Amino acid sequence: MQEVSPLRDIGPIPPQDVFFGAPRSESAFGGAAGLLQGRSFTGQELERIRELIKDQLIQNARALSSKAADAIADQPLDQYHRITENHDHGKLLSKLGRILSAEAVNEIKQMSFFDYVRDAFGPYYLSDEENIGHEQICFRVVRPDRREDVGSLHRDSWFWDYFAFPVPEGTSRVKIWVPVCGAQSQAGLLLAPGSHRQPLGYRTDTINGKLTFLPEMNGEEIKLQRFEGNPGDPVLFNYDVLHVGGMTRGDASRVSFEITVMFKTEHG
Ligand SMILES: [Fe+2]
Repeated sequence: MQEVSPLRDIGPIPPQDVFFGAPRSESAFGGAAGLLQGRSFTGQELERIRELIKDQLIQNARALSSKAADAIADQPLDQYHRITENHDHGKLLSKLGRILSAEAVNEIKQMSFFDYVRDAFGPYYLSDEENIGHEQICFRVVRPDRREDVGSLHRDSWFWDYFAFPVPEGTSRVKIWVPVCGAQSQAGLLLAPGSHRQPLGYRTDTINGKLTFLPEMNGEEIKLQRFEGNPGDPVLFNYDVLHVGGMTRGDASRVSFEITVMFKTEHG
């Protein structure tokens, strides 16, 4: 794969500037690049988020094997890959198993970062497109050198479109992705700045049993860049920005979480 350059000078952007002077709307978010770095979580908040994710991993494992659960409990979160060699990663990390509990979500929403979210977007809530019954915070673990742990290049809006998740009238979406563990220069998220404004179609296919989106590019060039924020540094991006998880290298698993902020569209 080509060498991917890092994203530079994307923030932190003050909350009042995330629409670059335009009224609050899904399409105006992030200006020309369509992405930016927000205010970081504190070290203490990050530690607590790691604990909450680990607790959830232990609980998921407990249902399958108490040995696996104990092994996860005994290791730092970023060493998750070491203890799962003999366990079914797919079962331990099903989509539903990666959604934090309502209690954990409520606790995280009290953290200082969400003051920034409120200042930037006004009244908001977190999406629940899978209809589990509460606001969603979904985490992901990407083990080193495991291609199957990352998806394919996509726009988040394609998922909603494909599954016909409803977007309430007058509501806009924005994605927030936060690294929790791992060296981001060897992992992280790859994004294509400006791609939200490119006309792009998609088709879908099932590859290795997984729904995969295939962008239909008519000769447009897509330039991916790597978000290299430290754990706790959030990247916020337009719902139409193309992105894909980076393969993890080195000896730490990448752990991240993501949310979709639903906010009121302003008419300018
Ligand atoms: Fe995505």
